Amino acid sequence: MTVGMGLIGLGSIYRAHAEGYRRHAAAEVVAVCDADEARSSAEAKEWGAKAFSDYHRLLEVSDVDAVDIMLPHSLHEPVALAALEAGKHVLVEKPIAPSLAAADRLFEAAERSGKVLALAENTRFVAAYRAIEPLVRGGELGDVQLVRTMICGNETERLSRPELWKGRRDGTVGGAILDAGAHSFYLLRWMFGGFEHVSGRGERRVPVSEVEDFGVVTGRLVTGADFLTEFSFTAEIPWNERLEVYGSAGSLIVDQLADPVVKHFRHGKDYEGTPLPVPYAPRTWKQESIAEGVVDFVSALEEERQPLVDLLQVRDAMQALGLAYRSLEEGGARLFVGSSPG
Ligand SMILES: NC(=O)c1ccc[n+]([C@@H]2O[C@H](COP(=O)([O-])OP(=O)(O)OC[C@H]3O[C@@H](n4cnc5c(N)ncnc54)[C@H](O)[C@@H]3O)[C@@H](O)[C@H]2O)c1
Repeated sequence: MTVGMGLIGLGSIYRAHAEGYRRHAAAEVVAVCDADEARSSAEAKEWGAKAFSDYHRLLEVSDVDAVDIMLPHSLHEPVALAALEAGKHVLVEKPIAPSLAAADRLFEAAERSGKVLALAENTRFVAAYRAIEPLVRGGELGDVQLVRTMICGNETERLSRPELWKGRRDGTVGGAILDAGAHSFYLLRWMFGGFEHVSGRGERRVPVSEVEDFGVVTGRLVTGADFLTEFSFTAEIPWNERLEVYGSAGSLIVDQLADPVVKHFRHGKDYEGTPLPVPYAPRTWKQESIAEGVVDFVSALEEERQPLVDLLQVRDAMQALGLAYRSLEEGGARLFVGSSPG
């Protein structure tokens, strides 16, 4: 079986997706599209594919079985809807859509079309998270009491350029909390359970930008564990993710810039901790996980199964993110899941 792919949006994240298609024997990139015609033509040559600058034209190509949407956030919903209506399977970069209501419209469209809708959520494929999953689920940490996540890096340049979508509300919709929080909230939901309540705070340090570049969102999960998520897009540090899990019988610290990346602390006097066998790869851990997510999408189509990223969990994460933004507007109010349409 061959899966004919149409790639839409050939910007910064495209190379990591391209690596996934190169890895999968069943994937054939047959069409590419970018509003920048020169970029589209150059990349089409690399693949021996057709080049487009208008995604509607790409959707008319019968060899395109599935599309991969790597566009500004405000375009995820309209392009995914058009693709599903054209009878294509869809892989879309995070966030699946800018709001829960928009995500729900996509879920309904996928149901109607009978096509696969999938989220390119690389968190599910990060080596460190895969390594700790059996410990967390196997009860090795006892009762998880506190989960902290942090995502930080430097987007100051993109946020400072009003001609780019990243700092414009009409392009990105939400700032660091939506952009990076899509990862952290999915991670919380996937590994630790559903959300009970949420409260948030955001700040904007880049003056020309229209969205927050700093955020802290806290709350409680239905398991009773508390959580704290932190985001900064103005920190001068290689792009990093950190996860701390504190349990009644042990704790874990994951840090993509630390060597070892993962340490398991078994008790209060375990000063050394036990490293988990996860490669130290500060330059490539993210790209690797993105490529693996693409491989899973193509394999899911080939094997006629659902992709590993569960859209019901994605929906819960979107709902909690919606509450976080409402909390920002309400001065950090604690909002309970179920109290808002999202
Ligand atoms: N998984 C991750 O860790 C990760 C990292 C970075 C970006 N992303 C996601 O990837 C997506 C794209 O981000 P990016 O950083 O690659 O953005 P980008 O700005 O670098 O690339 C977007 C591309 O889309 C093209 N484009 C814009 N409007 C278009 C249109 N109407 N038709 C065709 N092409 C159009 C632009 O010319 C550009 O090449 C976003 O959803 C972002 O959140 C994910």
